[in-house]
Amino acid sequence: MMSHIAVPPDPAQLAAIAATFGQVPRYTSYPTAPQFQAVADDQNWRHWLAELPAQARYALYIHVPFCRTMCWYCGCHTQVTKGDDALQRYLETLLREIELVARQAPTRPRVGGLHFGGGTPTILGGDRLLQIAAQLKQYFEFETDAEIAIEIDPRRFSADLLPALTALGVNRVSLGMQSLDSHVQVAINREQTYAMAAQTVSDLRQAGITAINLDLLYGLPYQTVDSIVDTVSRSLQLKPDRIALFGYAHVPWMKPHQSRIEAAALPDAAARFAQEAAAAATITAAGYRRIGLDHFAKADDPLAQKAAAGDLHRNFQGYTTEAGDVLLGFGPSAISTLPQGYAQNKASVVDWRRAMQSRTLPVARMRAVGVDDRLRRAVIEALMCHLGVNLARLAIRHGLAPSVFEADLEQLEPLIERGLVQRNGYNLTIPEPSRPLVRQVCAAFDRYLPRNPSPAKPSTVW
Ligand SMILES: C[S@@+](CC[C@H](N)C(=O)[O-])C[C@H]1O[C@@H](n2cnc3c(N)ncnc32)[C@H](O)[C@@H]1O
Ligand code: SF4
Repeated sequence: MMSHIAVPPDPAQLAAIAATFGQVPRYTSYPTAPQFQAVADDQNWRHWLAELPAQARYALYIHVPFCRTMCWYCGCHTQVTKGDDALQRYLETLLREIELVARQAPTRPRVGGLHFGGGTPTILGGDRLLQIAAQLKQYFEFETDAEIAIEIDPRRFSADLLPALTALGVNRVSLGMQSLDSHVQVAINREQTYAMAAQTVSDLRQAGITAINLDLLYGLPYQTVDSIVDTVSRSLQLKPDRIALFGYAHVPWMKPHQSRIEAAALPDAAARFAQEAAAAATITAAGYRRIGLDHFAKADDPLAQKAAAGDLHRNFQGYTTEAGDVLLGFGPSAISTLPQGYAQNKASVVDWRRAMQSRTLPVARMRAVGVDDRLRRAVIEALMCHLGVNLARLAIRHGLAPSVFEADLEQLEPLIERGLVQRNGYNLTIPEPSRPLVRQVCAAFDRYLPRNPSPAKPSTVW
């Protein structure tokens, strides 16, 4: 059965369709984090680590939960610290965590990627970053082609950091650009000039760190189509290799500092879709390939090449070129992915440190993945990465009958009827005009979401 192709939906129609799905996750994992279950101790986590395959290529993630000031929109696990005491205590605890986790796992597994995220990892300073790297290198074997990435806030960058970043082997950087509109910047408590980002990019390139990603946001208070197009156009002058265009998730019930943002100044759902469309059109007109939900990359960038080859993946950091059988996360709130399932560290810095003081692994929540979860995870990853999936092929590969998807396909029927999703037997394709609805299509395959959701809250979950 081949569905017809409808007229591309306009922003108001997209908003109306999205609202019928209620809140939908960004699917950086499946099952998603709300499905992880609290654990009383670290016994299971120790077992999972002990069972890790020695031969896999590991990815490592270090979460640095500190910033110098709070951006009102921020949805990350972070807190403001002014002095260096908290940073030093964090470092000492982190080094212990790395040692303790590594001692449970196979000896010196190979590492294909290391990502420093946050928060603002650079506020640790060069020496502490190098101490973390030295500790990791003691227990893990870094591949020569390993990607070493770090998130940088241009307001907290100085060229003094470059010797440490190059010694660390950093070869990819994500810069937070967010919005260059000064009205927006005041409302989000993040005043940052174009010159700061331009200087950071120039310093990094001169030091040989040439793979540059930029993070941009739409849906911010007072943001308009013109304002985001202006931010995008100026950002493009920096010739980044990749751009991440995130939709601001306003979740003040989870992040109380977001209530400093006036709800009345936020664009509505239709305006958000319009901003996203205008920003995306500006980026693709500059020659970038559109990838998945919210990424763009130059045609010769590995992310674009992997996407074109149908070999892209998704993890907690977003889109990645690494298949990622094993991702070990360190630091408060960090999430690990193991063949057995997911595990998340205690989110509070105090609880995380207390666990380490008693030589207990700081795991808070875990989630084993069963056969049905693995199948649905594969479906959702294919849709999020490639906007298409062969349901029958994946079901058979997981030892299940394609008919397991009957109820999910029924839920998608209204989109299929309108041509917003194309169905040919068990083959699904999301055509380009429906790309902004990719998370809603994934949600139809999420067995943990209610089938008939209540109307969407003002914003979707980031
Ligand atoms: C983990 S944060 C760290 C970035 C870095 N500290 C900085 O501010 O430059 C990575 C990105 O998440 C995005 N982000 C943060 N809060 C968000 C929210 N509430 N909704 C959507 N994206 C958000 C921002 O674009 C940010 O650059
Ligand atoms: S956006 Fe970045 S700098 Fe701002 S509070 Fe969040 S993590 Fe810190």
